[in-house]
Amino acid sequence: MASEKKYDIGLMGLAVMGQNLVLNMVDHGFDVAVFNRTTSKVDDFLATEEARSKGDKLAGAHSLAELVGKLKSPRKIMLMIKSKDAVPAPELALYPENAAVDAVIAELLPLLDQGDVIIDGGNTQFKDTERRTKYLAQRGIRYIGTGVSGGEEGARRGPSMMPGGDPEAWPLVKPIFQAISAKVGPNGEFPCCDWIGDRGAGHYVKMVHNGVEYGDMQLISDAYWILKNALGLSNAELHDVFAKWNESELDSYLVEITRDIFTVDDPETGEPLVDKILDAAGAKGTGKWMSQLALDLGTPSTLVTEAVYARAISSMKDQRVRASKVLSGPNAQRYQRDKSEFIGQVKQALYASKICSYAQGFVQMQAAAKEYDWKLDCGKIALLWRGGCIIRAVFLERIKEAFDADPNLENLLLAPYFKAAVESAQPAWRNVVKTAIELGIPAPGFSTALTYYDSYRSEKLPANLIQAQRDYFGAHTYLRVDKPGEGPFHTDWINVKK
Ligand code: 6PG
Repeated sequence: MASEKKYDIGLMGLAVMGQNLVLNMVDHGFDVAVFNRTTSKVDDFLATEEARSKGDKLAGAHSLAELVGKLKSPRKIMLMIKSKDAVPAPELALYPENAAVDAVIAELLPLLDQGDVIIDGGNTQFKDTERRTKYLAQRGIRYIGTGVSGGEEGARRGPSMMPGGDPEAWPLVKPIFQAISAKVGPNGEFPCCDWIGDRGAGHYVKMVHNGVEYGDMQLISDAYWILKNALGLSNAELHDVFAKWNESELDSYLVEITRDIFTVDDPETGEPLVDKILDAAGAKGTGKWMSQLALDLGTPSTLVTEAVYARAISSMKDQRVRASKVLSGPNAQRYQRDKSEFIGQVKQALYASKICSYAQGFVQMQAAAKEYDWKLDCGKIALLWRGGCIIRAVFLERIKEAFDADPNLENLLLAPYFKAAVESAQPAWRNVVKTAIELGIPAPGFSTALTYYDSYRSEKLPANLIQAQRDYFGAHTYLRVDKPGEGPFHTDWINVKK
């Protein structure tokens, strides 16, 4: 009797991302078994024309045990489960939205053998991934937490993947992950997927990807709002501006979709759809995590933080409507000088601010690597983000080159290419921020980026006064510029005055 067919990998969680990853894997020659807690989804998926066309390369399971039984050893099981799939967790995850993964791990453990691999492909807070990798390693199970970016289309055609966890698991999944991921390079020779590092490193890097995505989106929105309000550009004109920008150093997925958004009309009213959308931005939380973790590390990731706050203030729509009737500012005015010159300046403000945002993201990753004991290769990360993911952009090539030239680069702003780019953009950038302030147009991304730049390039900052105040009211002590290596010092500020 022929033995039952065994599959290369199992995937649990058949929402669109999960389905598309499965189809992508099969297209690349892998045999995949699938399972979903609501088992009707398994049957529905297998009944789709696309799934049926895959023949016996795809099989369904109606329980975790059945899924496990269908896999080649060592088994590889990828979880693409969403928070709403949550069932009571056996041990509380640090982040309750990730508790579903713990519940599945608890169910899987008795079914698996030593050396089998569990992969979490969701947007998980990295501390949960750190914990799970250690917990499972003690039980002989290899764990991977991987970022998967690119949305539904990316999952189907080639995502950017950022795996981290148990390094012994990497060779086992590498052929599958690198085959399905996006490819970049002159001949498409570089897969946008490589090993990031131990334990939660992959999920940390994916979180930074998302935080940088928040920054990019806010900066593009700053540009949009200034062009619309200071110059009065129409949606058609905005389309043309973003189309041109997308053929420059700003060439990126987010600029490209922004360009296209301005051309889409609402099927109901025939008017531009973007103008029908309520100006209250949602957020699932990865940007907030990056900001919280930046605070923990003491690294100034001000772009993502400002972007999270900008979404928060946008969501206070009712309050803003009330405040707009009460609080005054400059009356709606237009920029009076050369319009096309100003459009060029906004572009430069966007580019310079974007450089600051990425600089902050890489600084945070380097600080996290020290704190959590990972070895991160920043050039490699830039390459993984070059294709497939939401922040994919031509400009990431320059970042890779900068880290290749100096793997210990302290800050991207110090790399010759970026230093020159920001320097040449500076007058325009300042004029755009100044104009936004004069006209009363909020530009949180542009202005926080410029403040970061000015602070970072300042040999001296007014923190001497803060130290004096802290020492005055709380005897918190200070160090002296004229006595390096000595101290700390304290002054009795009240009595010394007399
Ligand atoms: C990706 C995206 C994705 C993210 C969404 C929603 O890399 O494909 O980053 O992972 O979840 O963009 O994020 P927010 O709801 O927080 O904006």
